Amino acid sequence: MNELNVLALSGSLRAGSFNTALLCAARKLNPGGLVIDIHQGLGRLPLYGQDLDTATPPAPVAALRARVGAADALLIATPEHNASVPAALKNAIDWISTAPDRLLHGKPVAIMGASPGPFGSVRAQLALRQILAAVGAETVVKPEVVVFGCDARLIGDVVTDPHSAELLRELLDALARKACRTLVNCPEQHRHHVVSLREERP
Ligand SMILES: Cc1cc2nc3c(=O)[nH]c(=O)nc-3n(C[C@H](O)[C@H](O)[C@H](O)COP(=O)(O)O)c2cc1C
Repeated sequence: MNELNVLALSGSLRAGSFNTALLCAARKLNPGGLVIDIHQGLGRLPLYGQDLDTATPPAPVAALRARVGAADALLIATPEHNASVPAALKNAIDWISTAPDRLLHGKPVAIMGASPGPFGSVRAQLALRQILAAVGAETVVKPEVVVFGCDARLIGDVVTDPHSAELLRELLDALARKACRTLVNCPEQHRHHVVSLREERP
């Protein structure tokens, strides 16, 4: 294995979404060793309902679960809707969480968010951390990437604010470190992380 496979989810279904753009920016900034694949299908998921959640779930659900299962890590960019996580993202997590093989348990996840407003998705990210804790995901704690005023800091797929761009790079690095803890065959590019983690232990 040469690279870590990262599945990226945007909490926004909007065509011109800043959060999807932030995922594209992450893919562009990628310090190396990560393959970031953006899943576009959250809008095709039905609303979660236990009656639909059978051994043969709807095709978009099966597709999403398969991609999450195959990924070494997840990267989520979320907008804030009424001070919390958008319904589309919560719906997706609910569908993933009920897969028989506990797909999110122990899964390395990094979160971030963008908003044109002054809060920058910070409350949505707090809510998302709580949800991810409930499903047993391994969520990266630091850095917190909160791109407030994003209409001035995120142009196309470029984070124009150097501080935010640096935090994004650090987040990807922290995600790689976390993913390497859970992998037996860590990619060459990230092996030093595993070595340094082992050295940190008493
Ligand atoms: C229903 C709704 C609720 C929103 N609530 C908030 C909010 O609580 N805090 C905030 O900063 N922005 C809020 N916004 C504005 C979004 O942050 C803004 O639309 C943002 O661009 C959405 O992300 P996107 O560009 O990735 O679609 C809300 C937008 C909508 C449509």
